[in-house]
Amino acid sequence: MQKKWWKESVVYQIYPRSFMDSNGDGIGDLPGIISKLDYLKTLGIDVIWLSPVYESPNDDNGYDISDYRSILKDFGTMADWELFLKEAHLRGIKLIMDLVVNHSSDEHAWFVESRSSKDNPKRDYYIWRPGKDGKEPNNWVSVFSGSAWKYDETTDEYFLHLFSSKQPDLNWESDKLKREIYDMMTWWLDKGIDGFRMDVVNFISKDTAYPDAPGEGGGYHWGGEYFMNGPRIHEFLHEMNREVLSKYDCMTVGEMPGVTPEEAVKYTSPESQEVDMVFQFEHMDLDSGNGKWDVRPWTLAALRENANKWQTSLQGKGWNSLYMNNHDQPRMVSRFGDDGRYRVESAKMLATYLHMQQGTPYIYQGEEIGMTNVQFPSIADYQDIEILNYYKEQIERGANEADLLKAIHIKGRDNARTPIQWDDTLHGGFTTGTPWLQVNPNYKDINAAQALADPQSIFHYYRQLIQLRKQHEVIVYGDFEMLAWEHGEIMAYKRTLGGQSLLAIMNFYGGTPEWTLPEPFVKGQAKLLIGNYPTEGETIASERIVLKPYEARVYLLA
Ligand code: NOJ
Repeated sequence: MQKKWWKESVVYQIYPRSFMDSNGDGIGDLPGIISKLDYLKTLGIDVIWLSPVYESPNDDNGYDISDYRSILKDFGTMADWELFLKEAHLRGIKLIMDLVVNHSSDEHAWFVESRSSKDNPKRDYYIWRPGKDGKEPNNWVSVFSGSAWKYDETTDEYFLHLFSSKQPDLNWESDKLKREIYDMMTWWLDKGIDGFRMDVVNFISKDTAYPDAPGEGGGYHWGGEYFMNGPRIHEFLHEMNREVLSKYDCMTVGEMPGVTPEEAVKYTSPESQEVDMVFQFEHMDLDSGNGKWDVRPWTLAALRENANKWQTSLQGKGWNSLYMNNHDQPRMVSRFGDDGRYRVESAKMLATYLHMQQGTPYIYQGEEIGMTNVQFPSIADYQDIEILNYYKEQIERGANEADLLKAIHIKGRDNARTPIQWDDTLHGGFTTGTPWLQVNPNYKDINAAQALADPQSIFHYYRQLIQLRKQHEVIVYGDFEMLAWEHGEIMAYKRTLGGQSLLAIMNFYGGTPEWTLPEPFVKGQAKLLIGNYPTEGETIASERIVLKPYEARVYLLA
């Protein structure tokens, strides 16, 4: 297997609005991030993924970009950004920027021109279609509810927006548009960044016939089959790689809803020359029923099946990313662990589960201190466009307010977006002003100052996990084999590289299950690398082990 720095790295995602506010306006900013770089250095991460800091009217918190080459005033200036990059690099931390090129803001100069007339030279930078029978060109639903098309009076046509109506989709069929994007990417790489996280990048090639999506009873329906992993997607990404990425030693991760392992191999195999790794979503759907808001319990069997599928399908062919939360997902300890009694144990167990697999681990800000979901009492406390649009649409359909809030408490994106809890002072030390989104009320108990001071904290456990990755190649490059297939509470897997074997055992529940260790991990031979409970000795005491609630152990046999 080819060795690469981005395979050996751990990435930390910063959602800048919620990270650290330096000027008391209630919004996180670049000087705030700079002030916390030493904290990240202590944690030991290698790369920062910075969610968008570009000029934006903030309809979707920066994922609606109105100028790709300037910094939003809320976050600071370009000089602040340059200082941030310099300070990160000085600490040996690389930076990848968020590349949002499936769509721009409707306030981007390109769109202002494009909508002005049918013969404007930038008309084809976006996707314009005439209406059909006095209605939208097709029945596609937007990710943020309602039609994916918006009528524009100026030219009596509709434009496509798979996300909010202020996020018109860019038209990748236009060579001129592609060139603009490549130039912009080159401009950032020349400023010294180390790569990109690419927002819904597998949506950029659409079926240009724009067929209706299948679905009953009229209304709007999910047209994913016509734009997820669309007809020209591999051609587009390969071209982007050839024109831009191949000229730099950079890393790329493509966010790809709906990607299968087979597709992921095509996107990430070195021969394809497209992207280095993808964010897949299958494990994020394990607790969805009929759509995201229809919550069903996830099962260990399904999680195991999913992990095994992704680990083994990409082995030796492509590369995985490893994550269980980000700015769009609930907090992982609340979702897959126990955010009450066993918060600390289960957060460490989940971290172990992720970091010992093959792939590049991503830590979402606050994960390293075990931040949890939040349950705001009223819809008025929420800010996220997805939550607000969904709520409005459902209330109009007669849904019950309490039921909607319940689903939002479990699945809403604002769970991940509450400000980072730095200490136990007002607003968790995030701001001296009024935070743009309230701080989780549990900040007095859960905060970074407390975590730094406690050697047994989740933070220090993450530090150890990150260090182990630097010390043992088997963690990065080892082959993966799932074990304990039939176990109802335990997940266990093995990694092997040369003469080294690593065994990771995780109890996903609050009981005390037993398990018999497989050969050759027997008494006296395997060394405990890390575990989330104090252990008596360095070696395995017996073949038959009993795990404590949410216990995780990792053994190395060298
Ligand atoms: C995925 C991003 O992660 C999410 O925050 C955003 O709303 C959509 N893409 C649209 O850009």
